[in-house]
Amino acid sequence: KVNLDYPTIPVGKAGDLRVGQAVSFTYPDSSSPCNLIKTGRETRGGVGPDSDIVAYSILCTHMGCPVVYSAEERTFKCPCHFSVFDSELNGQMVSGQATESLPRILLSYRASDDSIEAVGVEGLIYGRQANIL
Ligand code: FES
Repeated sequence: KVNLDYPTIPVGKAGDLRVGQAVSFTYPDSSSPCNLIKTGRETRGGVGPDSDIVAYSILCTHMGCPVVYSAEERTFKCPCHFSVFDSELNGQMVSGQATESLPRILLSYRASDDSIEAVGVEGLIYGRQANIL
């Protein structure tokens, strides 16, 4: 197991998130766009008071187009070649050209100030040989 030196970056307060509204941030650096999602129901690996806050890299694992969150379908959709990723099942591929799940951004929640921090990445961000450049 390789231990990359991931930064800890604050990405928001749990209480400010609205169900189904994607919040953009970058992690682990400014050229890696990500989305923070409050799914509204307990989600595998979710953090926060309701265990429903998750985050992913939004660069499609097929060719790197930014995927778009659909609250109705609870998926991320790629506008380029229509890959679909499950936002509540570890970014798993649902259909399309991509073969890898969306990389998951690992989060940590601190109840004392309701803050959410990004602390790592699971999966390789599109176009990179390592997540930390
Ligand atoms: Fe997303 Fe091709 S870049 S499906």
